[in-house]
Amino acid sequence: VTDVGIGAIELYFPQNFVEQSNLEEYNNVSRGKYTIGLGQQQMGFCSDNEDIVSISLTVLRQLLETYKIPLDSIGCLVVGTETMIDKSKSVKTALMDLFPNNSDIEGVDIKNACFGGAQALLHAVDWVTVNHPVDKKNAIVVIADIAIYEDGPARCTGGAGAIAFLVCPDATIPIDRRFSACHMKNTWDFFKPIKSTASEYPEVDGSLSLASYLEAVRSCYTHFTSKVLRHTSGIDGLNSFDAIFLHSPFTKMVQKGLAVMAYTDSCLRHKDQNGNGVENRLDENDRAGMTKMIELSAEVWKNKTDPHLVFNRRIGNMYTPSLFAQLLAYLASEESITDERNLLFFAYGSGLASAIFPGRVRPTANLAKIREVARHCIKRLDSRQRFSAEEFTETLKRREEFLHSNDFPKTPSESTLFPNTYFLNSIDKKYRRTYSLH
Ligand code: ACO
Repeated sequence: VTDVGIGAIELYFPQNFVEQSNLEEYNNVSRGKYTIGLGQQQMGFCSDNEDIVSISLTVLRQLLETYKIPLDSIGCLVVGTETMIDKSKSVKTALMDLFPNNSDIEGVDIKNACFGGAQALLHAVDWVTVNHPVDKKNAIVVIADIAIYEDGPARCTGGAGAIAFLVCPDATIPIDRRFSACHMKNTWDFFKPIKSTASEYPEVDGSLSLASYLEAVRSCYTHFTSKVLRHTSGIDGLNSFDAIFLHSPFTKMVQKGLAVMAYTDSCLRHKDQNGNGVENRLDENDRAGMTKMIELSAEVWKNKTDPHLVFNRRIGNMYTPSLFAQLLAYLASEESITDERNLLFFAYGSGLASAIFPGRVRPTANLAKIREVARHCIKRLDSRQRFSAEEFTETLKRREEFLHSNDFPKTPSESTLFPNTYFLNSIDKKYRRTYSLH
């Protein structure tokens, strides 16, 4: 099989959002800290009657219906998430409810902060490469998270969303598995320990997470370039790519990550007389060094990354889907796509796991349909409901109370859901959850 990759896409995000400028006022921080300093416009958030299973069911059902995917054509379903509601039972098992007559579907959940979605996609590509020639079956990847933080400086970097991909041969967006390069390291920058009192919030070392992200960009890009050079006639660095996507906790971080990638690129290209790369003179952890790197990468930022951050700016950090929402935004652009395009993905998950891998866009028969879905998702951003910072905070309080009392549902409000959205409608004495469709 050839060109295994993404053949269909759907995106779900919650109907509720809060303006970042409103949060700045509410949190009594200087005006512009979240909107300019972090580069965020709005933040999406789920009601207290949505959880990881409900949003995953919603996006998967949308994918199956929009693209009329036959249920018996699927042989693998992998979920990438860090929003755990059970220490044993995976979200994937709940999604099997949408396949009533097909139980021969491999795959479970993959977890590592924001990285699990990328790993799930890579696994699905491998599965299709091996299995499609035998059984002609395809895979689905569901990538979903609800990102919420305790009251404090990290709370404004939340968000929520879910993406579903069909993975198949002859795909519109093939992923090149040969050249994925990683940077994996034991780091305590962000984690969710099992505590004596349950919490949906992570423990975060903000500055360590920022430094770890940038270290990961540099290391992955260096490994990626050397792998490509070892096995091909080479690439022209970042010039070889039409669009470059990086995991987005907030868009300013993406700009810094891209700046490090571009600087690493130029250092690797300019070798001395002995063939050694010129040593990095600028330090990404030094404010002046970062400012200079951002300046040097202004063109590539403007042309290849910044235009594709619309979902990230208006929804916030969706964790695992944050990287792939940029692909959707890219495909939604007005410009026609008649020739092949080259893409580069940088996935990062605290703790830490990170990777760079390349992909392409091919002008297949399905491209128009995918682009229509992507444009529809962008329009849907405007049909969300704005809530005040007070109401957002109230919603998070209700989630905390519910988690501690397990007394649910108290006031499940369906009105805060888009049509065709699943919601949590009961939890029994044994903590078993059931869902309904709104
Ligand atoms: N106008 C414009 N910019 C401003 C203003 C203002 N009024 N006030 C502050 N800023 C700038 C700052 O200069 C800083 O930018 P810089 O670092 O580029 O100079 C930026 O706004 C943020 O300000 P800080 O003081 O650094 O913010 P704080 O320390 O309060 O929190 C942080 C930021 C660490 C990102 C926090 O929100 C956090 O912990 N988030 C969760 C962790 C995270 O997202 N990590 C990223 C990778 S891991 C992951 O994806 C979860």
